[in-house]
Amino acid sequence: REIAVIHGPNLNLLGRREPSVYGQQSLSDINRSIEQLADTLSVKVRIFQSNAEHELVEYIHDCMDCVEGIVINPAAFTHTSVALRDALLATGIPFIEVHLSNVAAREPFRQHSYFADKAVATLAGLGAEGYLAAVRFWSTYTL
Ligand code: DQA
Repeated sequence: REIAVIHGPNLNLLGRREPSVYGQQSLSDINRSIEQLADTLSVKVRIFQSNAEHELVEYIHDCMDCVEGIVINPAAFTHTSVALRDALLATGIPFIEVHLSNVAAREPFRQHSYFADKAVATLAGLGAEGYLAAVRFWSTYTL
């Protein structure tokens, strides 16, 4: 079983970017924990980050036919991107939406997600644990 973890824009700056909101861990720290967990669960994981919407769209297309579950933090594109939503729906791959911060407790413009109504689940406010919980879920979920 193979799963994909996809990080959206500005998440490459984790650790340095508003640490009081997004935590002290860098993206490589988080990716390392994801890879370690995937190893112990015997799932294959591929991980991708981009700041560019079209690269994320193309990466999602590449997941078609080989990935069984997606974990995605669309970051700011959560609140703007019909294109990313459509890409996920086009592949038909079930996905879990993750946010490090609890977006529901933040600015009004973060209250709407273009993903939440199509996601299997949304995990927000658990920090990096959200990614790990989602990976654990996909490792056991029967599609
Ligand atoms: C985020 C929340 C988004 O509103 C924000 O634009 C991000 C990160 C989170 O992980 O908490 O870049 O997705």
